[in-house]
Amino acid sequence: MSDFLSMYSIQHWLESCPQGYLANTDFGHAPGEKEPDLLVSNELMRTETIRTTVQLVMGERCALAASSGLINAAPDEASKRFLATQTLDEARHVEIFTQRLYDLGVKKTDLEDTLKQYVNPNLVKFAEILLEKVDKKDFVAGVVGQNVILEGMAFSVFEMMQALSREMNPKFANTLAGTIADERRHVGFGENRIGSLIREFPEKKAEIERMQRDMSYYMLATFADSFRGNPMAAEMDRLEAEAGATRHHANYQGVDLAQMPPEQMEQVLADTVLKEFKIRLARIGIEYQTPQRAA
Ligand SMILES: [Fe+2]
Ligand SMILES: [Fe+2]
Repeated sequence: MSDFLSMYSIQHWLESCPQGYLANTDFGHAPGEKEPDLLVSNELMRTETIRTTVQLVMGERCALAASSGLINAAPDEASKRFLATQTLDEARHVEIFTQRLYDLGVKKTDLEDTLKQYVNPNLVKFAEILLEKVDKKDFVAGVVGQNVILEGMAFSVFEMMQALSREMNPKFANTLAGTIADERRHVGFGENRIGSLIREFPEKKAEIERMQRDMSYYMLATFADSFRGNPMAAEMDRLEAEAGATRHHANYQGVDLAQMPPEQMEQVLADTVLKEFKIRLARIGIEYQTPQRAA
């Protein structure tokens, strides 16, 4: 427990996060960095970038509601304090991704309408399953849903977006870097805190496995909606060919995302997330349940 106390203390959070990798950042990126012109001036690219960013804002709003809601459900003081730091991390994520919408030209007065217009209904369902556990003050299920499932997913999605942005959009790649470091800490807490609680309450296993199966179902459906028929890759190809530019590269999980069609990217992402789920769930004594759906 002493390792746990120091690893997840507010002191550790202050030193590593606000005074560490976030020092001197401006909404998560270096001051002065801007979205590339292309994303702001090309209407198709702008719309699709707004759509993607809306999913990030909605996912982070769910994480904010879950981590703050779990504070009062936590059985021990160290977990409450960690969740307080996580609550601030998630609020920051909501803020920086919302700022990105403004940077892409969304008016502040149009924010809620824009979120409503573009949010993926499958992502809303995914969030509802988790928040139902939080509302019931079910700490064990809530932490598995939030710190293992939601953040395991977010982590891999952010890493994929970072790979896609590294060459084309350093501002967004930098914004994601701090977020990924935060999510890494959150996922670590989930694994460390929950394993022993599941051993203590084995009767909770079946319900948690059901929640994981349902959340995985809506996650895979969200991925399918996001990649299939996404016109962005084709538009990039067209623009690069028109400019006679050499193709850019985006390395992720040992493949080059810039060279593959969206359907194949979906497969790479789904495979990566599910592989990680299986490893993390096994560590806390939960057996991964395949959702009833051929992805
Ligand atoms: Fe987050
Ligand atoms: Fe998080």
